[in-house]
Amino acid sequence: MYRTHTCGELRAEDIGKPVVLSGWVQRVRDLGAVTFVDLRDRYGITQLAFSKDKPELMEQAKKLGREYVVRVEGKVRERESKNPKLPTGDIEIDVDRLEVLNPSALPPFLIEDQTDGGEELRAKYRYLDIRRRPVQQNLIFRSRVTQAVRNYLTDQGFIEVETPYLIKSTPEGARDFVVPSRLHPGQFYALPQSPQTFKQLLMVGGMDKYMQIVKCFRDEDLRADRQPEFTQIDCEMSFVTRDDVLRTFEGLIAHLLHKFHGIEPRPFPRMTYDEAMARYGTDKPDIRFGMELGEITPFVKDKDFKVFAASEYTGGIAVPGGASFSRKQIDGWTEWVKRPQVGAKGLVWVKYNPDGTFKSSVDKFFGEEDFRAWAEITGARPGDLMLFLSGPKDQTRKQLGMLRLELANRMGLRKPFEFAPLWITDFPLLEWDEETGRYHAMHHPFTAPLPEDEHLLDTDPARVRANAYDLVLNGNEIGGGSIRIHRRDLQEKMFELLGFTPEEARRQFGFLMKAFEYGAPPHGGIAIGLDRLVALMGGEESIRDFIAFPKNTSGRDVMIDAPDYISEEQLRELHLKLDLPDDKNP
Ligand code: AMO
Repeated sequence: MYRTHTCGELRAEDIGKPVVLSGWVQRVRDLGAVTFVDLRDRYGITQLAFSKDKPELMEQAKKLGREYVVRVEGKVRERESKNPKLPTGDIEIDVDRLEVLNPSALPPFLIEDQTDGGEELRAKYRYLDIRRRPVQQNLIFRSRVTQAVRNYLTDQGFIEVETPYLIKSTPEGARDFVVPSRLHPGQFYALPQSPQTFKQLLMVGGMDKYMQIVKCFRDEDLRADRQPEFTQIDCEMSFVTRDDVLRTFEGLIAHLLHKFHGIEPRPFPRMTYDEAMARYGTDKPDIRFGMELGEITPFVKDKDFKVFAASEYTGGIAVPGGASFSRKQIDGWTEWVKRPQVGAKGLVWVKYNPDGTFKSSVDKFFGEEDFRAWAEITGARPGDLMLFLSGPKDQTRKQLGMLRLELANRMGLRKPFEFAPLWITDFPLLEWDEETGRYHAMHHPFTAPLPEDEHLLDTDPARVRANAYDLVLNGNEIGGGSIRIHRRDLQEKMFELLGFTPEEARRQFGFLMKAFEYGAPPHGGIAIGLDRLVALMGGEESIRDFIAFPKNTSGRDVMIDAPDYISEEQLRELHLKLDLPDDKNP
């Protein structure tokens, strides 16, 4: 028998019991008369005691190295000096027998809550990193959330259906990962960016309520909240309106926040895309704090300050308590908005001093009356700092949105365990892409227009709003979905607007349009990013910490070293010929 108990289990009540424990050696402390060994497993740490009266055993214990896997037999006894910080801190094991099950090489970093290992090193030895409690806790938390999601949705009548991974392209706005076919020379499968078309076909198949916790694959630039393979809680429902879908998934998120954090966040606020852009400069606003954008364009149009007067949009935010910012701090923010990632040309500041006077970088052009009006619009009060940007409307609002978020980050206004979910609705259906000179579907090509906007498809497509919605949590997009097109004629028109020729549309999506001819019910759904949801609920924004084996920022798995070259033989079988620059040749 390897163990009668785990390393996190024994308490004062167990004193006197004979036990068997197995685990990893965290630390060996030789105190002369006695040697202590901390034995660890995923349940906790138990102290093993080896005393002088059993000299051979003690010598054996002293030789144990970090991360040795051992099995011990002994008796639970009361500790002389108790450790109130450990759940097992009242007891220790008086060891009678010690067996090394497997020795360990010296681990490259400390396997403790606070480790000395850098990110790259920990990624390379991810299995050792997983032994650390914070990583284990994250994975356990993910498992619990996943289980709660599955239980909740199946209780609501959703049927879990698996959809294939070897498919053909489903456009979700990223590039596909592709898999060459051996049996069909020159042909490729694509890995799904999402099961979008399959879940719609399940609705045509009458499944009515579908759910799947499913891997999706997207070849796109990575960020803290993006991985090339990630997991969606993917769902679809038939005979539903937008409100039915929102109510169902509001229920799911509220259930999770209540179960894991004791919060009742309902009802979730709803905000249109236009309103979110105007008030927050982003379609995924963090509404846990104020600093909303205020537009002052009409107040500065006919003034002498050319930069403002000539701009399509001028707007700003009020930073609470910011009047006390030093010149250096403000210069720092000016530099920050000029970074290429933000891209503003400059920053205008106005201090609203506690005594009610104003001081600004544009005192030459504006006076107290102007500043008072601006303060009214941005909501600034004495003691605050107003910061303004100007330029093209969309771009400038986005820059202000970024500035707002970064200020809140640095001012500690984004509290990890405060949760503010909301819905964003009424997105534009189409987005004009300058580069390709055509429209792109803002969500995906299967999204239905709002019924009241459908007539604009022929005359003014840019103004058509989508029957789509995003679920936003604390400034992060955690889900997105829509009511779908279920009529062949409308789907055809949509592809046409997106620049597909009828042949291209038929070749890529003929199967879906065909299905629409056989009694496709009205339907809609949503997909929630499980990694993001779990990370945010766990109090963090980086999803990598909640994925057992994540890829690094350049999409590599540095532990198994993938992607990797394949053999000539494999290439031949797959009918592939590489055409690489010399320095990239294996
Ligand atoms: P969408 O593309 O909005 O919608 O994706 C849904 C959610 O998936 C998460 N997500 C990601 N998470 C981690 N890494 C990524 N690379 C990544 N990309 C997306 C986000 C996002 O909100 N088929 C539609 C859903 C539908 O219409 O029902 C879809 O995939 O949290």
